[in-house]
Amino acid sequence: MSKYIVAVVGATGAVGREMIKTLLQRKFPFKSLRLFASSRSKGFKIKVGEREVEVEELTEDSFTNSKIQFALFSAGADRSKKFAPLAAKNHVVVIDNSSAFRMDEDVPLVVPEVNPDDIKNHKGIIANPNCSTIQMVVALKPLYDASRIRRVVVTTFQSVSGAGLKAMNELRTQSEAYLQNAQIVIDKFPYQIAFNCIPQIGDFMEDGYSKEEEKMVLETRKIMGDKEIRISPTTVRVPVFTGHSESVNIETETKITRKEAMAILKKAPGVTVVDDVEKLKYPLPIDCEGKDDVFVGRIREDNSVENGLNMWVVSDNLRKGAALNAVQIAEHMVKKKLV
Ligand code: A2P
Repeated sequence: MSKYIVAVVGATGAVGREMIKTLLQRKFPFKSLRLFASSRSKGFKIKVGEREVEVEELTEDSFTNSKIQFALFSAGADRSKKFAPLAAKNHVVVIDNSSAFRMDEDVPLVVPEVNPDDIKNHKGIIANPNCSTIQMVVALKPLYDASRIRRVVVTTFQSVSGAGLKAMNELRTQSEAYLQNAQIVIDKFPYQIAFNCIPQIGDFMEDGYSKEEEKMVLETRKIMGDKEIRISPTTVRVPVFTGHSESVNIETETKITRKEAMAILKKAPGVTVVDDVEKLKYPLPIDCEGKDDVFVGRIREDNSVENGLNMWVVSDNLRKGAALNAVQIAEHMVKKKLV
């Protein structure tokens, strides 16, 4: 198998580190790994398997004549907007974890279990969806294939790692301060996150929805290839380090029973069903940390409507919600000889 030169942009961040880990764990066929971050991290060494790789400063020339084939970006939307087109111009395939290009018509927005065929339409940049969208569509797609989904009502319980390493540190330091009756310092979130829930992720728009909620609506429709699905989201930040949980209610065109839903989801790629309430078995974020799958439980028929189902969907947001999905896109391209 050919060996590739792969770059991770934002290599010192929460998702960047997970990308490095995932490339190694899944034995992605790279011959070298280039790590980029800001000037602050220049020269910093990161362990990659047995070796240590020095972090390089991301500059406008980073991709010129670099022979890099894949660049996994997770350094924020502003960096993506500036540097991803430069990389693409230098024949690098960019898999971008930011929101910068997700809704661009020219940019495929891909979850390999759902719409892998969209990858081949790329023009240098492929977008990785938002973490809460990824785990939801992995669970929705097999049910959609059984009966078209008309409406989704989703409430998310999103961990702090989705907001980066500094946000994780903020939960830790606030928790310690709270337990010691010391002063709580607020920086990354609008309010104290320790021992709290914040019903705001991203800025609010005129209609009262947050940016994160808008992403869930628009991205789900694009990935599923159905502009008609009605989606009503509420996104909430909770004091969990890793793993997003979602309460998902769907209405389908025809009835799917709990038994049928269980059978469909058990066979679905990337899904593990954890559902046995008699034994108190349901997915928990602490159990999903470091795992690849999307975990689904509490599957129930919604008796308040004709064709409704409720479920509880949990996944590691740094992994399937970000790093793993990006690596799976690259793997698909290697497998299908698209690079
Ligand atoms: P750095 O550590 O040098 O600031 P997180 O979301 O976990 O906070 O991570 C953000 C990532 O984006 C980090 O790797 C960070 O690098 C990187 N980053 C931030 N600003 C820039 C920039 N101007 N150029 C390149 N990388 C950046």
